[in-house]
Amino acid sequence: MDLDLSETHEIIQQTARSFADKELLPAAHKIDKEGKFPADKVAKMAAMGLLGMAVPEDYDGAGLDTLAYAIAMEEISRGCASCGVIMSVQNSLVCDPIKTFGTTAQKKAFLPSLATGRTIGCFALSEPGSGSDAAGMRTTAIRDGDDYVINGTKNWITNGAEAQICVLIAHSNPVERHKGISAFVVDRRQSPYGIGKVEDKFGIKGSSTTSLVFEDTRVPAANRLGNEGDGFKVAMTTLDGGRIGIASQALGIARIAFEEALRYSRERSAFGKVIGDFGAIQEMLADMATDIEAARLLIWRAAAAKDAGEKYGKFSAMAKLYASEAAARICHKALQIHGGYGYVKEYNAERHVRDARITEIYEGTSEIQRLVIARETLTEYAAHA
Ligand code: CAA
Repeated sequence: MDLDLSETHEIIQQTARSFADKELLPAAHKIDKEGKFPADKVAKMAAMGLLGMAVPEDYDGAGLDTLAYAIAMEEISRGCASCGVIMSVQNSLVCDPIKTFGTTAQKKAFLPSLATGRTIGCFALSEPGSGSDAAGMRTTAIRDGDDYVINGTKNWITNGAEAQICVLIAHSNPVERHKGISAFVVDRRQSPYGIGKVEDKFGIKGSSTTSLVFEDTRVPAANRLGNEGDGFKVAMTTLDGGRIGIASQALGIARIAFEEALRYSRERSAFGKVIGDFGAIQEMLADMATDIEAARLLIWRAAAAKDAGEKYGKFSAMAKLYASEAAARICHKALQIHGGYGYVKEYNAERHVRDARITEIYEGTSEIQRLVIARETLTEYAAHA
């Protein structure tokens, strides 16, 4: 087993790290404070090929693999968690389903502008009354001639305010449960819909989170992704991949929290020595360092399985579950190491706690990841019993 990165992956890591050091880390505090979409940073990320990393070069993407994406996501999120989620949604939840389920015409129409950042995308699955129970959605897409007519409200939509392209999941046959769900690419410029409430969030404040309101929005049938009734599988497959991105985001946040706590522990003195010399602090640092390595191994395991074309949903759920809960633990300890300074906004420690928290919720809560892992584990057991 070889855990060394290839030359290509190392270059991606170094490039993303140096961009994060120069451009994102110095700006992250301001991005959080102002709570505005960091358009200038996103444009630079687009120019570096970070918005369509796995999109084939034929469609103006970087043509890279999942491991490359996970490595870059970790570095970008270490620099700025808001930039991390913007990048994650564009890659995993918008480009990926179009690449995987789209026709050649759909790929030509949407991928080049998404991969180069000329358009921003969003993914609309959750609703005011359905989050974990994704198939319980109420939004309808009813066929009418060459169009589908969309009605309903989607909630918690990352990039909702900026997106011109929306991968929408809706009921085309509301009598059925998941088998009546279809997926669409909605171009807001051709099929206008409303932007509802813009949420005032706990963390990742530079990314917008909105509701989307569809009122008799007509979408051409040619924009349906896959067959009618395939939408739930499109959504689930998309989220299997997305969870690798969010796990990497959590890891990036955890890393910067750890690095800052480590530095502080070598600078701050108490009782005549630096606090990093005390066993109590060293125990925390040891647990944090171990959690970071364990999370990265699980993420790379999931990415490698996806790249090998193997079944990987269980591994991506494990990676997201572990990395997000590890990030919460690490950021909590980092704040504790900073003492009173950790609790004030002048320092970064409290922001990392706020930014990390969402990774245990979006793209499937920790409870849903455990459900996915348990179901898969029990199925494997039954197959071999
Ligand atoms: N891949 C492909 N197909 C899958 C699948 C997967 N990973 N998981 C389930 N399916 C298929 C099943 O095989 C089944 O198909 P058949 O009927 O043909 O056998 C069908 O889908 C229904 O499966 P289930 O019976 O397992 O469905 P369920 O209703 O019990 O729900 C669930 C399963 C795993 C709980 C699912 O609802 C789920 O993942 N919920 C969480 C939703 C989520 O992650 N939301 C995040 C929102 S997006 C977001 O947060 C983005 C953001 O802004 C950053």
